[in-house]
Amino acid sequence: MTQTPADQAELFRKMAAGYDAAIRVYQPSYDDMLHLSTDLAAACAPGRTRCLDYGCGTGGALAQLCALFDEVVAVDPGRAMLDVARARASQEQGDGAARVRFVEGTTSSAEVAALDDASFDAAHCSMVLMFVEGDEAKLATLRALHRLLRPGAALVQTEVLRDADEDATFELWRAIMRRRGATEEQIATGERQIHALMHRRDAGEIRALLAAAGFAHVTQAYQSLHTAIFVARK
Ligand SMILES: C[S@@+](CC[C@H](N)C(=O)[O-])C[C@H]1O[C@@H](n2cnc3c(N)ncnc32)[C@H](O)[C@@H]1O
Repeated sequence: MTQTPADQAELFRKMAAGYDAAIRVYQPSYDDMLHLSTDLAAACAPGRTRCLDYGCGTGGALAQLCALFDEVVAVDPGRAMLDVARARASQEQGDGAARVRFVEGTTSSAEVAALDDASFDAAHCSMVLMFVEGDEAKLATLRALHRLLRPGAALVQTEVLRDADEDATFELWRAIMRRRGATEEQIATGERQIHALMHRRDAGEIRALLAAAGFAHVTQAYQSLHTAIFVARK
């Protein structure tokens, strides 16, 4: 059964404290992907001044982004997720945490709308767009991120994809989960949540959305089972 945005918000509220452990079970290459996506954000940045981490969650990318950029703006609508991210930033980065500005909201919020056009050297967006329902809303989000980027800068976007060979991909995913110690209940719950809460697209549809939002060059830089990283240049 498809669930509502309120169900989604409730999921992230409930799972905030356990997110960092759970995501490493459900996304078998989570740490590698974050390492690559943050490196790509820096490698494609015209300057190293300012990076947006859109849908920052519990802040898994923030220490790496802060090491690479002077300032990071971290946006997320989930208060509980942001609370974990704030606590983690001050624990992991001490005074460096002052270089992260946390914003509770989305691209529709006044505080994000008030950010200047072309004022970011990179946008990092890991496993977020798949939670935005409908192509119109996905496009509005991508257009807002495009507006914020300097010319030549990149959006680095990680997405769980819907692919043509879903059954085979999910079979491999279940096998990897079992091998990494997940219980059958965790596997069934994870799979149910993917189907009920995510609005996945295939790689061609993601490329088309990025092109429609104004991105000129899109490269798929990585794929691990059904999760891919795209680099889209303004
Ligand atoms: C799977 S978590 C990813 C968190 C983090 N980026 C990571 O890679 O671990 C998805 C996050 O997207 C946030 N989110 C959901 N809808 C959003 C939206 N419309 N705009 C921004 N963030 C959103 C959720 O609150 C949640 O923290």
